[in-house]
Amino acid sequence: MIKVDVSNVISEEEINKYAPSVKRVNQMINDKSGAGNDFLGWVDWPENYNKEEVERLLEDAKYVRENFDVLVVAGIGGSYLGARCALDALKGIRNTEKPEIIFMGQTFSPNYTAQVLEYLKGKKFAINVISKSGTTTETSIAFRLLKDLLERQVGKAEARKSIFAVTDKARGALKTLCNNEGYHTYVLPDDIGGRYSVLTPVGLFPLACAGVDVKAMLKGAQEARKEFDNADLKKNMCYRYAVSRDYMYRHNKPVEMYVTYEPQMSQISEWLKQLFGESEGKEKKGLLPTSATFSTDLHSLGQFIQDGTPLLFETILNVVNPELDVTIPSDKDDLDGLNYLAGKKLSYVNQMAYQGTLKAHEEDGGVPCNIIAIEKMDAKTLGYLFYFFMRACAMSAYLLEINPFNQPGVEIYKKNMFHLLGKKGY
Ligand code: PA5
Repeated sequence: MIKVDVSNVISEEEINKYAPSVKRVNQMINDKSGAGNDFLGWVDWPENYNKEEVERLLEDAKYVRENFDVLVVAGIGGSYLGARCALDALKGIRNTEKPEIIFMGQTFSPNYTAQVLEYLKGKKFAINVISKSGTTTETSIAFRLLKDLLERQVGKAEARKSIFAVTDKARGALKTLCNNEGYHTYVLPDDIGGRYSVLTPVGLFPLACAGVDVKAMLKGAQEARKEFDNADLKKNMCYRYAVSRDYMYRHNKPVEMYVTYEPQMSQISEWLKQLFGESEGKEKKGLLPTSATFSTDLHSLGQFIQDGTPLLFETILNVVNPELDVTIPSDKDDLDGLNYLAGKKLSYVNQMAYQGTLKAHEEDGGVPCNIIAIEKMDAKTLGYLFYFFMRACAMSAYLLEINPFNQPGVEIYKKNMFHLLGKKGY
């Protein structure tokens, strides 16, 4: 489904030097013995996922598709980015099918929130609230507002049938609310953290409501799990990518730029930024993940990448065969001088832009580039890619001797904010 080329970033000789550490870390991931080992549930999840729960979730998704015009998904971070990026990657700007999916609770923005609430007035909408802790402030505020609007529009009893929650199996304020109100509830397992949860109901429920083939997505992840559970650095593309990152980090390239040539893939970069940034950025270590969408950003950041401070390397996600294509027409006057492209497809132009840019950045700019060639983007490939990156992230973080599964730094802003907001105990 994908091909990974790291040859511009690291030589085979350098890759081979990683063999002993990759073997050790792979063992730690497989037998769940490394730091944060109680959060390694995602490793075998593509095989071990709760089949009955997925069937129930699919039934409920069908009900949502048949009965509502809009599904509002409330969540943030790992409880938001996976579904958001999958939806964009697979559907782009097409949101014509019922139900329209809207996200809320990923921001405190009064403008955004007010606009969504205004839009929902009078519409037949369901709510999918997602929070592992059940106490995240952005999500909780959004849910309170949404529930209030829904109950006013359809009454308490009907609202209950229109609320679908994903949370911890036993703990948290949201779980208590679910128990009290009898909402449809799915479990985010204890041993899977937010940014590793896209293949659990966190991602599966909203995606199933959007009509995505979530079983194909799980199948893709299953294939990736089988392929990447070994330490063979000749074959294991996932670990070859992980060591290329580590090598860059140790050779004065502290910034990894995820590059796509498809705007609908730019949310995947957001998911990647969270996955790698929150997993590795600790103890004053870790690569800074950043992103760009070309050719759009070649007209903004392109100058810096080509000629600016040489601190970055690229990881390019190149979709070889786009789902849709457009042919450039001929024009009898040719005043815009484009007839040399008449009859050519935009996919061809995009690929030429990619190849020209790659050469410019690698050869003239001295920017090392990893290339991940994606045959075509579909649900199965996406599941495969999600697993590929999660496993690469665990390997990378362990190579840095970092626990990939906690996020102690995130709590500090919350404490300050709660103090300023006057929350009890802060
Ligand atoms: O990766 C993580 O653990 C975080 O980004 C969480 O997903 C995010 O903070 C939301 O947390 P919760 O699902 O508890 O609301």
